[in-house]
Amino acid sequence: MKDGRFVGKNCLVTGGGSGIGYATAQKFAESGARVFIVGRNGARLAKAAEKLHSETGAEVIAVAGDMSDEKEIERVVAEVGRQAGAIHVLANCAGRSVSSMLLDLSAEDWDAILGINLRAVFLLSRCVAKNMIAHKVPHGKIISVSSISSRMGEFGNGAYSVSKGALNTLTQVMGLEFAQYGISVTAVCPGYVDTEMLREVFETRGPLEGMTAQEYQDYLVGSVPMKRMADPAEIGGFIRFLATDEANYITGVALTMAGGKMLI
Ligand SMILES: NC(=O)c1ccc[n+]([C@@H]2O[C@H](COP(=O)([O-])OP(=O)(O)OC[C@H]3O[C@@H](n4cnc5c(N)ncnc54)[C@H](O)[C@@H]3O)[C@@H](O)[C@H]2O)c1
Repeated sequence: MKDGRFVGKNCLVTGGGSGIGYATAQKFAESGARVFIVGRNGARLAKAAEKLHSETGAEVIAVAGDMSDEKEIERVVAEVGRQAGAIHVLANCAGRSVSSMLLDLSAEDWDAILGINLRAVFLLSRCVAKNMIAHKVPHGKIISVSSISSRMGEFGNGAYSVSKGALNTLTQVMGLEFAQYGISVTAVCPGYVDTEMLREVFETRGPLEGMTAQEYQDYLVGSVPMKRMADPAEIGGFIRFLATDEANYITGVALTMAGGKMLI
């Protein structure tokens, strides 16, 4: 444990088996939290929990479940509630993207992207907020990973951009409505973060722009004033900050973290 800021706190992190979710779980574990990581792939999740525990000594519990399914969300939150009692922090990190021009985008893909990036955040946040209210958690925190594509729609990334734009609006409304319970609700809008998802974006969206994956990567990273991708740990560290008491008065807002690529 590097510091004890989250000792006695129960943190639920979706998408905790990889990328930004894993890095966020790692930050909470390093600060002494009990961390519940949720994802679809049970085997990968169990491995991630074991690794996080051996690195930090924190209690890290893997709970497999498909967060695009309402019943699964209710089951997972009930299961975490049974083991943890109060849930102090929810980090919504699970998400997906599909590269496609709108003219070619199927209704199934549209529904799948909005299902995990938007509907799941609403359903999970609603379930967890009820737990926080029932347990009178003094400063509950709900933090979601949005994207700079929420600020300005991206070519070949329509469903994703729409889902993240609406996620920012959902963050505003939850911030307004949950404030009376002391729960603060925020979103983080990262630019380009070095994860599996972004590697897949280079491969699949590059050709839509007439570029190879490497050309597209160079093009995107070259457009960032800091000339690099973010490390997932940088995003996880910011999410952890938003979950501390130092951030109690921040609510209803989406905050950009993009190396200067997006200035709002
Ligand atoms: N990588 C980037 O450049 C970037 C930029 C901005 C925002 N984001 C957002 O960050 C979040 C994390 O993405 P990442 O980059 O770490 O990619 P990632 O692919 O490593 O992580 C996504 C995680 O979500 C999980 N997931 C997907 N569908 C799920 C479902 N139905 N139920 C449960 N879990 C599910 C996956 O298993 C995976 O662990 C996403 O919301 C993504 O939109 C990423």
